[in-house]
Amino acid sequence: MIQSLQRELDDLKAEGLYRWLRQVDGPQGPRISVDGREAIHFAGSDYLGLAGHPRLKEAACQATLRYGCGVAAARLISGNHDLYPQLEERLARFKQAEAALLFSTGYQANLGVISALMDSSDVIFSDTLNHASIVDGCRLSRARVRIFPHNDLVALARLLKQEQSARRRLIVIDGLYSMDGDVAPLKEIVGLAERYDCLTMVDDSHSIGVLGENGRGTAEATGVLGRIDIETGSLAKAMGGFGAYVVGHRTVIEYLTNRARPFIFTCALPPVVVATAIEALTIVEQEPERRERLWNNTRYMRVRLREIGFDVNPNGTQIIPLVVGEPERTMRFCQELLCRGIFAQGIRYPSVPRGTERIRLTVTALHSQADLDAALTALTETGQSLQLV
Ligand SMILES: Cc1ncc(COP(=O)(O)O)c(C=O)c1O
Repeated sequence: MIQSLQRELDDLKAEGLYRWLRQVDGPQGPRISVDGREAIHFAGSDYLGLAGHPRLKEAACQATLRYGCGVAAARLISGNHDLYPQLEERLARFKQAEAALLFSTGYQANLGVISALMDSSDVIFSDTLNHASIVDGCRLSRARVRIFPHNDLVALARLLKQEQSARRRLIVIDGLYSMDGDVAPLKEIVGLAERYDCLTMVDDSHSIGVLGENGRGTAEATGVLGRIDIETGSLAKAMGGFGAYVVGHRTVIEYLTNRARPFIFTCALPPVVVATAIEALTIVEQEPERRERLWNNTRYMRVRLREIGFDVNPNGTQIIPLVVGEPERTMRFCQELLCRGIFAQGIRYPSVPRGTERIRLTVTALHSQADLDAALTALTETGQSLQLV
């Protein structure tokens, strides 16, 4: 039995798809130590630089002193401290939704929402590049899943027309795609959902705090705030901490509280995590200049990368894919960049479709001009040595 596992691991190695854990030291930030090597960090998702913010650390310390390290119970048993509804109310208000519910992780939120709301009488319309947690939620629900090509509104409309007799219908998409950095055409998708009487669910993990004038996410950026039925999101990216949320209609939240197994059958988040998220949300509301710095850095990198010869849209977001198209060459790119003092992770199947392996470069508000220029020099040299530019 173990031998068959070993054979599969050997196959992964032969295909260039084997994964291993790198040793990272020190806190998140623009500098990081990777496998004992100092590097400028372009691989994370701490887009606003909140993970090491002194106010988040202070909030974490105070919450630990007040509540201890964990609650040792699910929220529906004895774990529902006053901090949880506080954060839920803040998130609902921030997202201009009726109500919110916390989940332990973004992965569990997507799994929990989709598997609770949908079953074999229902149909889900899912973008082909949706995050793995959405894919797994769809599978777990046992609903019929109609996958449409990425952001293809014509294909989506065709499927919606074909599937009007199902009991419940749900369109599920990422707001900002985590590996491609592009934004879903939410306005058009919401229009289609309203026309075909379909629920909408958007995973806003990479856009909360980042997109929209006030950082409210993809819905704000695309002008459909208040028109999305269900939004999920991780608090472990721009919010700098951990945990996740679902926001939406009060009835949906009440339903999930009763039916979402990854909410019901798991321990409540440690209070320290919740306190940190409350502080992060306050900073997102109080310090729009972080978003401004992030966008200035993003624009600079995208324009310069295009000038260097990478196929980069100058108007995109803080997640910048540099597509290589082969797994081994991608990891060579990653390793050579690291040798030049830049850490940006190589991304391969199944995180992205085969043949689209890439370097995923992420920009943050904390990168200095010198950091960006050092990355551009290393990317030029590495790109040339691998004949990519
Ligand atoms: C789009 C998307 N959704 C959900 C998740 C999962 O979030 P978490 O890390 O909180 O489980 C991720 C993180 O990788 C993600 O990129």
